[in-house]
Amino acid sequence: MPALSRLIVATRNSHKSMEIRAMLGDRWEVMDANDFVGLPAIEETGQTFLENAVLKAEGISRLVAGWVLADDSGLEVDALGGAPGVWSSSFGGEEGHHAKNNAHLLSAMLGQGVRTARFRCTMVLATAGKAQADFCGTVEGRLAEAAEGEGGFGYDPLFIPEGYQQTFAALGQNLKNQLSHRARALNQAIAWLNDRP
Ligand code: IMP
Repeated sequence: MPALSRLIVATRNSHKSMEIRAMLGDRWEVMDANDFVGLPAIEETGQTFLENAVLKAEGISRLVAGWVLADDSGLEVDALGGAPGVWSSSFGGEEGHHAKNNAHLLSAMLGQGVRTARFRCTMVLATAGKAQADFCGTVEGRLAEAAEGEGGFGYDPLFIPEGYQQTFAALGQNLKNQLSHRARALNQAIAWLNDRP
């Protein structure tokens, strides 16, 4: 059996690292910033998913040994010109407050006929403080009229992936992990790591 490989996810969002852990299975030991004492929060001052993912990946990989994976992700709504996008986690006015974000999104969508949207995830792999590669995954879909389902996190109760009639939160974690923006970016990142000598 090949040795376990360690991947450190540059996040304190345990939903993200749990999804990545579940998608990678037993051959990978997945840790995140909560597993280390004293790691600083990395300020996300970039204007794009890629800039923020590079900041997080390089910032954490200066401080811990091994491969660091950063995930910067968000929801792009066509009727809102791509908002909330990079600012998804604070759209409702309070960083990381998913209920406020969803309520704000529903009110911004009142009267909008076009409800198409996508989740986008940019991942960056870094080691020794330098970004080495980046990957992008998206999943197309549309916004529900009201929140539905208990699973997932963030905007999952409002996002219906293309080809389905229920939200990510109602469809459940297994299906989300097969279809999601995060799964699509992660598959590319792992293929890239596996191709290395
Ligand atoms: P980040 O931590 O700056 O990458 O912000 C990610 C934000 O985008 C989260 O707080 C959510 O609001 C949203 N988001 C990203 N991925 C997902 C997902 O898989 N489901 C639901 N919301 C997500």
